[in-house]
Amino acid sequence: MTGKLLVTGASGQLGAAVVRHLLETFKVAASSLVAGSRDTAKLSDLASRGVEIRRVDFDDQASLTESLAGVDRVLIVSTDALDASGTRQRQHLAAVEAAKKAGVGRIFYTSMPSADDSLITFAPDHLATEEAIKASCIAYSIFRNGWYMENLFMALPAALASGQWYSASGEGKLAHIARDDIARAIAGGIASPAAGNVTYTLTGETARTSEEIAALASEVTGKPLAVVHVNDEQLAQGMAGAGVPAPYIPTFVSFDANTREGKIAMVTDDAATLSGGKLTSLKDFMEANKAALGA
Ligand SMILES: NC(=O)c1ccc[n+]([C@@H]2O[C@H](COP(=O)([O-])OP(=O)(O)OC[C@H]3O[C@@H](n4cnc5c(N)ncnc54)[C@H](OP(=O)(O)O)[C@@H]3O)[C@@H](O)[C@H]2O)c1
Repeated sequence: MTGKLLVTGASGQLGAAVVRHLLETFKVAASSLVAGSRDTAKLSDLASRGVEIRRVDFDDQASLTESLAGVDRVLIVSTDALDASGTRQRQHLAAVEAAKKAGVGRIFYTSMPSADDSLITFAPDHLATEEAIKASCIAYSIFRNGWYMENLFMALPAALASGQWYSASGEGKLAHIARDDIARAIAGGIASPAAGNVTYTLTGETARTSEEIAALASEVTGKPLAVVHVNDEQLAQGMAGAGVPAPYIPTFVSFDANTREGKIAMVTDDAATLSGGKLTSLKDFMEANKAALGA
């Protein structure tokens, strides 16, 4: 690599893991990295390893301008704003616009699978960002990140405790991937960037239905788990009854609907190719996280 790379959101779980893999797995020099976060105090560990630290908040134009000074590549880590008011899209577009003004040579961006053909409520945020990146005429590597294995912690522990997993995903399949494998793949894609513009889809190696995931969770934990198939409305009602805040329910229901409609069933070898290593299997992931699953 030549000039400096800014990683935004470097205190987040994915951003921190990308920086760690750049340093440790791909042996990128700390002096070529700039780690950015809204809260730079969270990056003191990286500072002590020689990584330059800058404040980056997509809601703060001045921080974007200052953090991109002298930077020739930027990894824009998508933000976690889930509200329906367009916050995330506004934040991402501000970051792309600032990268353009700063004259960066390549944008790396964390998107989602099939951003252009998805039922997920926030897919339009990712699609608009991808389009803005393409319209900027800056070279790009877009990483369409599949669903983390870690997402299963939202439903499986309670499901395993009760023996029932309410799902509206029907027979739809999903190839979960460990967040750390995504981070390693992104770091690989940054350390040895493609020559042109590329869009990767980072998935696990095997797509499974909820029944197949339940069977695996049952095998690993020794607890019985039956999938109870419900429709979107019933799922939403169940979530409301369980205390899920109302604004989040349409998004969570859209995950199941998207899976049911086969829109996230793809399996690619992009993650393994970029990371140059074997991906964690769902079974190994569950074994390693037995305690979190309540076993
Ligand atoms: N594929 C999946 O299954 C999946 C699951 C969850 C989330 N995601 C997406 O992937 C991203 C990274 O995931 P994660 O696991 O690292 O989530 P996380 O730990 O919750 O991190 C949230 C990230 O958003 C950044 N952020 C929030 N507001 C920001 C702002 N105003 N300006 C700049 N950055 C801001 C944070 O940066 P700082 O706090 O360092 O400023 C942090 O990197 C998420 O933000 C979300 O877009 C994907």
